[in-house]
Amino acid sequence: MMTSWKIWFGLMSVCLLQSRVMSQKVQLEPLNSTALRDSDVQFTATIQGDWEVTNWGVGGIQVLTIVNSTDNIIPSADRFSARFCFDTSRSCVEFTIHNVTRADAGEVVCSVQGHQPATAQLYVQESGTVSIPGGNVTVMQGGEVELECVTTAWFPAPTVSWTQNGQVVNSSLYNTTSTPDGDSFNSTSTVRLTASRSARVECLASLSTLTAPQSSSVYIQIVPKPPDWTVLIAVVVSFGSCGLLVFLILGIMICYKHRKEKKQNYQDEMRRVRTHSQLSVIDTPEQVRGRVNESYEPENQRNDTINWTESGYRKHRHMTFV
Ligand SMILES: *[C@@H]1O[C@H](CO)[C@@H](O)[C@H](O)[C@H]1NC(C)=O
Ligand SMILES: *[C@@H]1O[C@H](CO)[C@@H](O)[C@H](O)[C@H]1NC(C)=O
Ligand SMILES: *[C@@H]1O[C@H](CO)[C@@H](O)[C@H](O)[C@H]1NC(C)=O
Ligand SMILES: *[C@@H]1O[C@H](CO)[C@@H](O)[C@H](O)[C@H]1NC(C)=O
Ligand SMILES: *[C@@H]1O[C@H](CO)[C@@H](O)[C@H](O)[C@H]1NC(C)=O
Repeated sequence: MMTSWKIWFGLMSVCLLQSRVMSQKVQLEPLNSTALRDSDVQFTATIQGDWEVTNWGVGGIQVLTIVNSTDNIIPSADRFSARFCFDTSRSCVEFTIHNVTRADAGEVVCSVQGHQPATAQLYVQESGTVSIPGGNVTVMQGGEVELECVTTAWFPAPTVSWTQNGQVVNSSLYNTTSTPDGDSFNSTSTVRLTASRSARVECLASLSTLTAPQSSSVYIQIVPKPPDWTVLIAVVVSFGSCGLLVFLILGIMICYKHRKEKKQNYQDEMRRVRTHSQLSVIDTPEQVRGRVNESYEPENQRNDTINWTESGYRKHRHMTFV
């Protein structure tokens, strides 16, 4: 029992050791690589010990063969190439995929005859387009403006961010949703900004492999706040109406006064006319009578009366002074 255990354990150890040795024979660097479509991507294989033939496979297809004895490097297409890292050694091979495509994504396999193949993962990203379809916007000062940024044909969905006059917009002010479109993504980002002054707003879409984000920008143009106008108009209107009211009142007062005066004048006139006519009516008989009396009064008698009055007055005056 004990011996069989020992034998089994020994065999297992040998197996593990051997597989480790075998897997260590070919090493790929890097094990994970992310590249932007149309860029070049490289993998380096380190092969321990002697070898005859090395094959490279991309996306399940064998794309390049190296024959050690003849130094022959045979690619299946221009897009694939390889070279030895050092002139003096065949233990290191550098494999390049030029103008990488989305179809290249997946496993990159290096298999050396007589050894276990080494595998690396290739991820291919794709940058599409960015646009703010609404274009420039005009907004009232202090008003809220909503802008929409659309990205199409990206893989994976890009990270969308916004800037306002070069300043990063707080992420709490925008939302981005992505929808798959075939083997890529479209996304829509909506930002809500408060416009206090004219600004250049930029939408940026980025990927880890993109050296600079792709962007689209628009301008927010500010128009004067209309409430100021309404206030001004209100002030003007109220002042105007006040003035008008005062004018009206003054006009009415003047008119009333004028009419009253006129009426009074008329009344006065009427009264005067009436009194005059009454007086003349009353006067006429008296005058007539007076005239009659006068005419009937004897001249001597009248003179006597005056004389009497004069003497009387004199007498009286005299009496006062004495
Ligand atoms: C890679 O693509 C560019 C432009 O698309 C082209 O000029 C170049 O020849 C291509 N390279 C290879 C190795 O196919
Ligand atoms: C947007 O505004 C900028 C600056 O005011 C101007 O240069 C540009 O032509 C405008 N774009 C459109 C599409 O009107
Ligand atoms: C972004 O906005 C949130 C909520 O309004 C706030 O708590 C946070 O501090 C802001 N971040 C920056 C960097 O201004
Ligand atoms: C983002 O989406 C949430 C939930 O749909 C919503 O409550 C919020 O107002 C949105 N924010 C912006 C800036 O659109
Ligand atoms: C993605 O955008 C393109 C171009 O605007 C459009 O043709 C396509 O229908 C969109 N796909 C989805 C799923 O919205």
